[in-house]
Amino acid sequence: MKTLSVTLPGRSYDILIGSGLLARAAEHLRPVLPRAKKLFVVTDSNVAPIYLSALIPGLERAGFETACREIPAGEGSKSPAMLSALWEDMMDFGLTRTDAVVALGGGVVGDLAGFAASTILRGVDFVQIPTTLLAQVDSSVGGKVAVDLQHGKNLAGAFWQPKIVLMDPDTLDTLDDRTFADGMAEVIKYGCILDKAFFDFLALRPSRGEIMEEIEHVLYTCCDLKRMVVEEDERDTGRRMLLNFGHTVGHAFEKMGNYQTWTHGQAVAAGMCVAAKLGLALGTGGTEDDLQALTKLLQAFDLPVHIPCSDADWAVMEETVGLDKKSTGDSISLILLEEMGKAKAVKMKKTEVLAQLDALYGRV
Ligand code: NAD
Ligand code: GLY
Repeated sequence: MKTLSVTLPGRSYDILIGSGLLARAAEHLRPVLPRAKKLFVVTDSNVAPIYLSALIPGLERAGFETACREIPAGEGSKSPAMLSALWEDMMDFGLTRTDAVVALGGGVVGDLAGFAASTILRGVDFVQIPTTLLAQVDSSVGGKVAVDLQHGKNLAGAFWQPKIVLMDPDTLDTLDDRTFADGMAEVIKYGCILDKAFFDFLALRPSRGEIMEEIEHVLYTCCDLKRMVVEEDERDTGRRMLLNFGHTVGHAFEKMGNYQTWTHGQAVAAGMCVAAKLGLALGTGGTEDDLQALTKLLQAFDLPVHIPCSDADWAVMEETVGLDKKSTGDSISLILLEEMGKAKAVKMKKTEVLAQLDALYGRV
């Protein structure tokens, strides 16, 4: 088992990575939740039938009273309506301020359950047990929790750090290839923005089988990189923005497809290619070879490297870039590559970003 500690003032916590952790969750939860009697477990309709039976008996044996809420799988559940339903369920269960919420599932479950934990009774303890690659390398670490609004993704949320993150790589075995690839988009992102050696390590292992042979190292490296960034900038006002490489345009792609056509990882994959091309066009850094290496690695995992834009899509792009959380007034901080393994935020006028995107898409 590998352990990492995220050190934040008054909110430090461990990330444990190891095979079989799901069944042994209780022994790691009790020390960090010494006063909790009740655990409200949030999971989804795909995860519940496979993994609840491995988790719950151990928790009950350790003396926790549990209630499970199974939400429909998919991004549509990350909604204010589902949040409100969870709040009511938590009250029905008799949750108190010394109890805790457990998220067992992918990023949708983690973000939703985390936001519910951050708000119910003005905040209760929260545990992340991520079961997708994306959730293990990204969403379960760092405390961002949210729901989507009609206006866009993650627009209502909070920073709410978990008390512990337990990741059992065995849970990745039941992911379909597309969901595994979604996580790979974020794994590859870390190499691009923070660690060239890690990017090269991944490029030498361009298949799911090869990645799974090294999975503990991959999870550890990604979480360690994210840990460093979060410790430096928990509230996302500086360095943490680098983690949004590919996300500004990626969010637009997700929205264009009404959150149905493109998954988050697919949208981020194509968004990273757009960002790499923008960097080349603007002369801010990166090389044609970097773009080719990124494209090749994403394609090895069947991730899209280009998403077409119709006129209707373009309106969504304009609106989404304008709404991006990294925007202030008429400017936006775009995350661009300086070189492979190093990214920087470049502040630009929104109109200029849209003009560059226009040119890149051959619309002008
Ligand atoms: P997801 O939670 O929808 O999971 C993807 C699919 O895999 C779902 O159908 C789910 O039911 C299924 N699944 C989960 N675990 C499984 C398992 N072990 N075996 C079989 N099926 C399983 O999506 P995701 O890709 O995990 O997360 C995407 C979400 O994460 C988005 O909402 C995104 O905005 C959010 N996100 C948040 C952060 C953050 O910092 N909070 C970072 C990145 C992404
Ligand atoms: N996934 C981006 C962040 O956690 O900041």
